[in-house]
Amino acid sequence: MSTATLDKGKGADRGPVDSAENSASHLITATFRIRRFNPEVSAEASWEDFRIEIDPKERVLDALHQIKWEVDGTLTFRRSCAHGICGSDAMRINGRNRLACKTLIKDINPDKPITVEAIKGLTVLKDLVVDMDPFFQAYRDVMPFLVTTGNEPTRERLQSAEDRERFDDTTKCILCAACTSSCPVFWNDGQYFGPAAIVNAHRFIFDSRDEAGEQRLEILNDKDGVWRCRTTFNCTDACPRGIEVTKAIQEVKRALITRRF
Ligand code: SF4
Ligand code: FES
Repeated sequence: MSTATLDKGKGADRGPVDSAENSASHLITATFRIRRFNPEVSAEASWEDFRIEIDPKERVLDALHQIKWEVDGTLTFRRSCAHGICGSDAMRINGRNRLACKTLIKDINPDKPITVEAIKGLTVLKDLVVDMDPFFQAYRDVMPFLVTTGNEPTRERLQSAEDRERFDDTTKCILCAACTSSCPVFWNDGQYFGPAAIVNAHRFIFDSRDEAGEQRLEILNDKDGVWRCRTTFNCTDACPRGIEVTKAIQEVKRALITRRF
């Protein structure tokens, strides 16, 4: 394991002395222990420590930016919105799946090294970046779009508030893969559709305007479909959007048995 250090509070051109001292007084020294992997350098992954000075009210994503921009530009991770919307920065932080942009450093015990590694169950391409293709293929397989037949309506497709409520929770998914990559069944057998695909099937199966519910249920009736779920609740615990993922999976199972949805 290697270590890199950045003493951030001692920069020479950081503006007026008093404001620099003010902001420096909030800083702590934290160690980020990051699982590195670069197939062009080594076939083995290894841990690397980065000691940086940072405000504990910052997020893990800010720490990763600081490391990348000021210590080691080769550190590789995905992010886009930085505000919990795009779903691109799911990673394992202190052994738990979280969004780096929604995780405050002060909330994850910065007195000890903070471990950061790629989510599990998907092939690591480099450092914290995994191959998301199998994840998005499972998503595509459940037909995540409204299916209707007949003539186009002349006005919007109406729906009661009660009907809308039935799938409200599952509309919140941002496809971050935190749920799927926290699932032991998915770790052991990448063929399982995984919680995220089922959540997105749920979103349309229970939509009163949609006409392909039966088709989606048949897709999920597959040996790699909903019946693989072992109800471990890892997915619900991991979801940064607070979606009741396990409950949604149970509702899909029930719909398969009763054929009522
Ligand atoms: S259900 Fe939650 S954890 Fe799973 S992909 Fe959607 S937002 Fe992420
Ligand atoms: S960067 Fe978009 S969700 Fe974190």
